[in-house]
Amino acid sequence: MFDKEKLVPVYIGSDHAGFDFKNELKSFLDENKFDVTDLGCFSSDSVDYPDIAREVSEKVLEIDGSFGILICGTGIGMSMAANKLKGIRAAVVESEKVAEMTRRHNDANVLAMGSRIIGVEDMKKIALKFLNTDFEKGEERHVRRVSKIEKNGGGGGEVSSETDAGETDAGANN
Ligand code: RB5
Repeated sequence: MFDKEKLVPVYIGSDHAGFDFKNELKSFLDENKFDVTDLGCFSSDSVDYPDIAREVSEKVLEIDGSFGILICGTGIGMSMAANKLKGIRAAVVESEKVAEMTRRHNDANVLAMGSRIIGVEDMKKIALKFLNTDFEKGEERHVRRVSKIEKNGGGGGEVSSETDAGETDAGANN
């Protein structure tokens, strides 16, 4: 079983290109006891991915500690649209390694994936890795850099984590 089952609210959405994979991924995460809410789309009719990206992102911003998962053809349009909302850090992910690193270093709160790029079984593994990996909030350099991302967004947003004074940039994963 997984560390965060039943603890983490997850908002999932897709456009028509990601519809089938979104449904399958939602069922998989339900089976693994995540608290998943489907924000659409709800049929394979063509929709505009920025609308879904906004709905999911607004919920992630509203519910502290929640995550978003967005699926379109490539993951790129969804991530671009989501990243327009201040406080959203959406990452396009195609491997478990990147899922892990974008949580550990970037504190990504939205996972974007492409149904025309990777298969649904890979999406399941990537989603579990993403949802079960913590931001390295004790590493001052990561907290500082994520704060700078938010400042680039024009608002000087806060990173809600404590920092350990005296951390250095030494080490292989800087
Ligand atoms: C829809 O055809 C496609 O453009 C969309 O799913 C996505 O890949 C955009 O980035």
